[in-house]
Order: sequence, then C-alpha cells, then structure tokens
Amino acid sequence: MSNRRQFIRNVSAASAAVAISSSSFARNLRRADEKVRIGVIGTGLRGQSHLELLLRRKDVEVTAICDISDRMLTSAKQQFTRAGKALPKIYTGTSTAYKNLLSDKNIDAIVIATPWEWHAPMILDAIRAGIKYIGTEVILGITLEDHWDVVKAADNAGAHVMMLENVCYRRDVMAVLNMVRQGIFGEIMHLQGGYQHDLRGVKFNDGVKPYNSGVEFGEKGFSEAAWRTNHSVHRNGDLYPTHGIGPIAMIADINRGNRFISLSSFDTKARGLHNYIVKKGGENHPNAKVNFKLGDIVTTHIKCANGETILLQHDTNLPRPYSLGFRVQGTSGLWMDVNNSVYVEGISKEHQWDNAASWLEKYDHPLWKRWTAEAEGAGHGGMDFFVIHAFIESVKRKVPTPMDVYDAAAWSAITPLSEKSIELGNATVEFPDFTSGKWMNRKNTFAVTDEF
Ligand SMILES: NC(=O)c1ccc[n+]([C@@H]2O[C@H](COP(=O)([O-])OP(=O)(O)OC[C@H]3O[C@@H](n4cnc5c(N)ncnc54)[C@H](O)[C@@H]3O)[C@@H](O)[C@H]2O)c1
Repeated sequence: MSNRRQFIRNVSAASAAVAISSSSFARNLRRADEKVRIGVIGTGLRGQSHLELLLRRKDVEVTAICDISDRMLTSAKQQFTRAGKALPKIYTGTSTAYKNLLSDKNIDAIVIATPWEWHAPMILDAIRAGIKYIGTEVILGITLEDHWDVVKAADNAGAHVMMLENVCYRRDVMAVLNMVRQGIFGEIMHLQGGYQHDLRGVKFNDGVKPYNSGVEFGEKGFSEAAWRTNHSVHRNGDLYPTHGIGPIAMIADINRGNRFISLSSFDTKARGLHNYIVKKGGENHPNAKVNFKLGDIVTTHIKCANGETILLQHDTNLPRPYSLGFRVQGTSGLWMDVNNSVYVEGISKEHQWDNAASWLEKYDHPLWKRWTAEAEGAGHGGMDFFVIHAFIESVKRKVPTPMDVYDAAAWSAITPLSEKSIELGNATVEFPDFTSGKWMNRKNTFAVTDEF
C-alpha cells in the first residue's frame, strides 16, 4: 500500500474512532449551541494570555477565575473590561480557594495555569469535583506517582485531561507532521527537539517587572521567578520537556501504536545561573551563595518501541538565542529547524540542503490553512489559538481532547525519569506505560482534519 493511501486509511480510522467514542463521553455538559462556561485557575502571565483568547471567542463565557495574587487578578479583571465582557466570579484569599471554584456549578471546564507544583493537586481535585474537561498548562506533576495518580483518576472518572502543549500546533511542526504522514521522509528513524531558551532574565527579576530586571527569586521574585527558579535550586533533570517532546511524540505516534520504552539523561555542571547573579547583582549579592542543582544542559536519550531514537535537550541557563532544535529524520530525508532546511533523497540536489520554506508552504497543514485569520495575533506566532481552540471544540462536541491524559503523562514524566537517571549515574531507566497496553491498538487522532 502506498504511504499516501496508508495515511488516508489511518486518518479515516482515526476520525471513526473519535466519532464512536464521542457518545460514550457525553456527560452533564450543556448543549452544543450554548456557550462553554470556563473557569480559569491561575491568572498570571500565561493565564492572562489564555484569557485573551478565551475572551475573543463567541462560544465561550469565562464565568470564574481564581488566583492568590491581587496584582494578577487586577490585570485579569482589566482584560474583561477591555473585551466588554461581564466580570467573572472571583475566587481568592487562600491557596486552596480554587476548590470553591471547582464546586461552582456554573462551570463546564477549567483551564489551569498555575506553578507546576499545583497542577497535579488541582487536576485531581477537579476530577473529584466532577469536572470532565481539564486543560492544564504544561507539566502534569512533579513525581512519577503524581503522573500515575492523574492517569488513574482520569480513567476512573472518564475525565479528559489535556495538557495545553501549544508547540504541537506550531505551523512548521504541523507541516512536517503532514509531510511525515504523507511519507516524504520515508520511515521515521530519529527525532530531536528540546527547550533551548535562555531563561536567565525570567528566572530572576526585581520582584516587579517580569523580565531582565534583577537577580531576585522566590519570595522576592515576580511571576515565574517566584516559583520556577526554585526548581533549578533543588532539581536536576529535564525540567521542561513537553515543548520538544509533544510534537515529536505526535510525529512518532507515541501512545498510538508506539511508546517510549526507556531513557537515560546526562547533565553538565551548573554555572549559568550563578554567573548571571554575580554579573548582574555582584558577588556579594546573597543569591550568589545559592547552589543550583540543575545542570546547565541536560541531554536525554529515549528509545521507542518501534525502534526510533529521540534526543531531547533542556538548556535554559546559558546565553543563547531561542531554538527548540527540532530534527525529524527518516529513511528518505530529514528536516532540521535550526538551519531551516529539508533534504529529501531523489528530489533535493545530492548532499545539499533545500531551504525549508517551499516545503513547509507546500505541505502547510489543513488546520493552519483554515484558521490562519483566527490565529492572527494569538501568542507564540499564532499556535496558542489552536491549543485553546482544540480544547474548547472538544468540550462543545463532547469528544476526547486531541491530546489526552496519556500524552500529558508520557511527555511530562520525562522530568522525574530524567532526574532518576541522573541520580543513578546516567542509568537507563524504564519508561512506564501509562496506557496499560492500550498504546498497541490506539490510532493517532491528532490533527487529522482541519476542524481542531
Ligand atoms: N505553553 C507555553 O508557551 C507557556 C508559556 C508560559 C508559561 N507556561 C506555563 O504556564 C504555567 C504558569 O506560568 P506563568 O508564566 O503564568 O507563571 P506566573 O507566575 O506568571 O503565574 C502563575 C499564577 O498562579 C498563581 N497561583 C499560585 N498558586 C496558586 C494557587 N494555589 N491558587 C490560585 N492561583 C495560584 C500565581 O499567583 C500566579 O498569578 C506554568 O505551568 C508554565 O510552565 C506555558
């Protein structure tokens, strides 16, 4: 069978799978023509960017928000006023005020955009409160046990937990997914990606301005400096794997005919964060005494059941321009995003890179073709529109979300597994199968149509 026909067959089977399962997931949600009522927990910088997109939509009403910071709540309320929308119910006051939002009957689904350590407890409480659609910002939990707890709770309750992994919707990434599905690169052999982003000016600030404003963190920091930096003090592993692994996992059909089976991680020494503090705050600044545990570059190798290898890198403490460093390589050719290049044997000139632009344009994903205007102005080059769109459309249609709890768990569990590997002297550690064997028969339903 040709690759093209195989692709069409897979897509049809996948669409059928969605249609069949939709009725069994119908819960007490409202009619499809009514607005989806959303509660947002965490209205910090990311929560506000989700709010911006939710407030633009005619099919959504944000009925409740929750945060513990007056400053963040004030900014969020201003967004409602600017959008000409009614103010939502506000839950605040204590770090568990979100539980009151969860029992608010005026909510169909929630979006969580709080610090990582809050995601698993908030998801579990949401499931206990009977909420069936939970969109959580990236990182599902801290420990491996957190990941299992969420998977089991979602399975038992029939709840849909979607990690809002926006990079899966990046335009070039989706075009490459399209190329892979059409067999352009042949059989996929090796994939690379990562989170390679100089975050020094995010991990530290002056407690007022979020970026590049000082060397404080923790109680004296603002936004991510208030909580993210502490993970670099106490943990050593790939702390932020999902932007790199999400798109790769979808290309490699992970949890859908394939799965991660083992990984090993290697860390460099830690220098970047200390050097930044000394450079910007002087060697006598109290934070110059802090020992950061996180290696500046953490490299993780993953082996997949179908024989592919994956190389992931976490690189957030050193000077460098941003790049997720994608590489998708098969038996017939490859794409590399750093040099924006494609090579396809028999089409490209031998041993010469093609500029990727014409390939990416030719294979532009149907989703992007259809929704370009709506994505205009949305965060991260438009991809943020698609991830919220997919979540809301799933709630409206009462169907499983295109990225589900097994994806969230497999992608995010790389963090505790890489910590364990490093702790054990770069040992190869086994990857748990969160699907409990279902990966063998599940079809890849991600982005198989132009709808969401
Ligand atoms: N996908 C992306 O591109 C992207 C970009 C930025 C951030 N993120 C993710 O979004 C999440 C939030 O990051 P951020 O940049 O908005 O951080 P932030 O610090 O700006 O916002 C977090 C908010 O959560 C609030 N909060 C903390 N504890 C709470 C509690 N118990 N109850 C209610 N609110 C609480 C804080 O007051 C703060 O307003 C993180 O998971 C981060 O990794 C993703």
